[in-house]
Amino acid sequence: MKGVLLAGGTGTRLRPLTNVVNKHLLPVGGYPMIYYGIRRLKEAGIEDILIVIGKQSAGLYIDYLGGGSELGVRLTYKVQEKAGGIAEALALASGFIETGEKFIVLLGDNLFSDSLLPYVEAFSRQPEGARVVLTSVEDARRYGVPVISDGRIVSIIEKPSEPHSNYCVTGIYMYDTKVFEHIAKLSPSARGELEITDINNRYAADGLLAYSVMKDWWTDAGTFESLMEAGRVLREGE
Ligand code: DAU
Repeated sequence: MKGVLLAGGTGTRLRPLTNVVNKHLLPVGGYPMIYYGIRRLKEAGIEDILIVIGKQSAGLYIDYLGGGSELGVRLTYKVQEKAGGIAEALALASGFIETGEKFIVLLGDNLFSDSLLPYVEAFSRQPEGARVVLTSVEDARRYGVPVISDGRIVSIIEKPSEPHSNYCVTGIYMYDTKVFEHIAKLSPSARGELEITDINNRYAADGLLAYSVMKDWWTDAGTFESLMEAGRVLREGE
């Protein structure tokens, strides 16, 4: 299975740090943030990885990662010209993924300690569709929140003001290649982005959205508080 690591976007919640360097190159523990996603993919046996970057700091990714050989992976890069949303960044993977091939997507600011292997194995056994990974959080208002009925995700509500659950959808997604057809039909949301939640809701409406639940530590390191927490947790783990 191939992997796609999304590292575009503007990182507005981490300004002024992200005025200087792209969010996914900020130091976390002993490494730049992007390192951890590559390491998790590699540990799950995923060595062919596409990284979608923005224009900011593009050369620094090459300086740090090059073709990936030092980390034991093969890296391909694509540039997302503007932060048009997670689903827009994902569309850039269409030439990298072969027709009929399943793949995994990680948001570059999602840091966690669980192995990806059980999710990848579960998705390999799944005949078609998509799979998301859920975790419980203290304040679900920052995230996509699943509505689960009879053990099935019937929809996902993006950043609800009153979440009815303390589960959120993490930035770990698995798709079949139908995802590119769904993205091609998508319209921008009110904030002008192609939303990954709209894509996941498309699969949910077709009854093709499976899920796994993460047990261990997870954070979206997109804010100062979570970036600091991630640095502490990951440094202790090293
Ligand atoms: O972290 C999990 C959450 O990630 C989910 O619960 C939400 O459903 C999902 O929409 C997303 O929410 P965020 O508000 O945290 O997404 P954000 O805009 O911060 O983007 C997260 C990552 O996606 C970022 O690290 C890089 C990538 N990205 C984002 C945008 C907007 C891109 O590659 N290109 C983009 O244009």
